Amino acid sequence: MKIACIVGARPNFMKIAPILEEIEKHPDLDPILVHTGQHYDYEMSQVFFEDLDIPEPHVHLGVGSGSHAIQTGKIMMAFEEVVVEHKPDLVLVVGDVNSTLACSLVAAKLWIPVAHVEAGIRSFDRTMPEEINRLLTDVISDYLLTPTEDANENLKKEGISDRKIFLVGDVMIDTLLKYKDKASSDSMLSDLGLEKHSYILMTLHRPNNVDVESNFVKILNALAEIQRLIKIVFPIHPRTKARIEEFGFGNMVSGMENLIIIDPLGYLKFMGLMVNSRFVLTDSGGMQTETTVLNIPCLTMRENTERPETIREGTNTLVGNDTHLIIEESTKILDGYGKTGIYPEIWDGHTAERIVKTIAHIS
Ligand code: UD1
Repeated sequence: MKIACIVGARPNFMKIAPILEEIEKHPDLDPILVHTGQHYDYEMSQVFFEDLDIPEPHVHLGVGSGSHAIQTGKIMMAFEEVVVEHKPDLVLVVGDVNSTLACSLVAAKLWIPVAHVEAGIRSFDRTMPEEINRLLTDVISDYLLTPTEDANENLKKEGISDRKIFLVGDVMIDTLLKYKDKASSDSMLSDLGLEKHSYILMTLHRPNNVDVESNFVKILNALAEIQRLIKIVFPIHPRTKARIEEFGFGNMVSGMENLIIIDPLGYLKFMGLMVNSRFVLTDSGGMQTETTVLNIPCLTMRENTERPETIREGTNTLVGNDTHLIIEESTKILDGYGKTGIYPEIWDGHTAERIVKTIAHIS
């Protein structure tokens, strides 16, 4: 059975790693790893292959950046040729990036079954490109491999047949549990001259937060206050860096003495910073679940989340881009009132095994 496994952007790599490792254990399964090239900088892509021992892709589409339509269209055109040439029996996609949707569409139209890992999660916010990608990918997928009961419920409400839905758990947590000790002992902390729990780890890159100048200012105003209380380590996404220049925020940012801006990091260095942080401030999707599993408080700078279990039972709190709320909730955590929590039992580090069992009908 030939399985085309698709990756394209940073959040895909930690999801595909354990799946490929599991596929390799089955001699009758023949994986073809396809990298669309949506992300192409060393720090956004190659470093993850090195950190997580992901084999070199068999095929690289090299599409690069572009508007949503250009990027999606280019991936579709290039991937169609790959499907025609390699004739996979199944196309496996992960997450919710443009590469996920583009490759699912190509496969569905060529009558190749699609397996979607991380199916069913919903923010119910259609202004997010990821929400559109999730909805459309799920509707054309044959195997909907979900991380939570919530995701199953969402799919059922959308009229998707029960027999296509498989609760397998969160595959990103497989990678977290496998690498967290190794990451924790990484030299990043000492390289930056930091003590454990003496800093916040921040990420920020959502279009709504950084492409809209007035929203970006609100977040920067909050950071200006918080960095008076504690250091903030900020591996910066290329989009955010570009906006700081474009909006002329350079002076404001460099004026914050305790805001430590660094280049994007690979998995181990980044995780090393996360596990040892006081708390996390982010607008990312995956970090909400990772912090809940690590029992580290997380403030999410969004109005909604596709990960409601991290709010209900985990360590996550939504703060939007509201300056006062970000400061208030940060202060609360620093005063010792951060959330603690639990997470679903099925996030047990064995999700990849369940995925491969399901798609390959191995009993
Ligand atoms: C994409 C995903 C998002 C994910 C994020 C993680 C979609 C719709 N969005 O958003 O869900 O959270 O990745 O990083 O797929 N760039 C570089 N080098 C790179 C890649 C990008 O400089 O290696 C720059 C380009 O100028 C590009 C911009 O970053 O225009 C944004 O990249 P893009 O892939 O369009 O979307 P992300 O914001 O990274």
